Amino acid sequence: MILIVGGAGYIGSHINKELNKQGYETVILDDLSSGRKELVQWGKFVEGNLGDEALLEKIFSENKIDTVMHFAAFKAVGESVIEPEKYYLNNVGATMHLLKIMRKHGVNKFIFSSSAAVFGIPEYTPIDEKHPKSPINPYGRNKLMVENILEDYFQAYKLRSVCLRYFNAVGADSEADVGEWPGSSANLVPIALDVAIGRRDKLTIFGTDYPTPDGTCVRDYIHVTDLASAHIKAMEYLNDHEIADVFNLGNGQGFSVKEVVAMTKEVTGIDYLVVEGEKRAGDPPVLVADSKKAREILNWNPTFNSLKVIVETAWKWHQKVCAH
Ligand code: UFG
Repeated sequence: MILIVGGAGYIGSHINKELNKQGYETVILDDLSSGRKELVQWGKFVEGNLGDEALLEKIFSENKIDTVMHFAAFKAVGESVIEPEKYYLNNVGATMHLLKIMRKHGVNKFIFSSSAAVFGIPEYTPIDEKHPKSPINPYGRNKLMVENILEDYFQAYKLRSVCLRYFNAVGADSEADVGEWPGSSANLVPIALDVAIGRRDKLTIFGTDYPTPDGTCVRDYIHVTDLASAHIKAMEYLNDHEIADVFNLGNGQGFSVKEVVAMTKEVTGIDYLVVEGEKRAGDPPVLVADSKKAREILNWNPTFNSLKVIVETAWKWHQKVCAH
């Protein structure tokens, strides 16, 4: 049995689907603060908060948990600057409770949802795992702290772990069973699709004088189902490797904000309103992953290599949900 904490969220719900498709049994813990019950279509669902130790105790006593996958974190970088306490208490504090209960119940495999935000402003790209880690906001520091805690827990307690650092997660399940809930995200693609569908009036491009070919930020967009497969590969790797390790997950190809906007217009066929605005604080000009390590060690092979197809999956889902 695999415990997915935060399994009603965007990324967790895709992993839940893939795990069940591959025959794994899952139990999902989510407090639905940002997750959606509609996204939990497989496994056993428990509604509750990660900080509720009694509830965690019950879950671990009643289910034979083999591995824990942890997605239950707040993820708005800007908010983490304004409300750091909220972020440290949940993203670091509650994670430590989870690790404590795991140890108590002898569960020693943990997959952690980390982020490219641990690197801060890149010194070089593509970014490999050896790149210095120097986060520039509380969100990134939360992620790095948990990575460090996991390294210490491995040394002291032999708790095995894999931290997967996502670059820009986008797209939706190709069958449109699950996806990112419209209106719940501050990210580029879901906002663009929300404008295209008429739920927002315009898209603002944050900054057009970055040192990049067209002046807008460049990102590495990786499909959420490819992220899901990486989690399963990581879990299987932990079964026969005693390690605590980290992997960067991206496609290795950068697209500018303007290129992404153009692609969303092409896919939707809607020429929506775009305006140019100020830079958003804390946005590095370029973030592109070197994922050779995940490909070589985990045998990870992302299959969504076309931005067009990635955006098409997101659009299909967006239309389906907005129609209801
Ligand atoms: N952008 C716009 N307009 C918008 C939204 C975004 O121009 O309305 C731009 C951003 O400035 C950025 C790019 O589009 O240049 C991508 O922005 P996203 O918000 O989609 O994604 P980020 O790259 O900011 O964030 C991602 C993850 C975070 C992680 C961060 C690491 O979502 O969790 O990478 O830097 F922390």
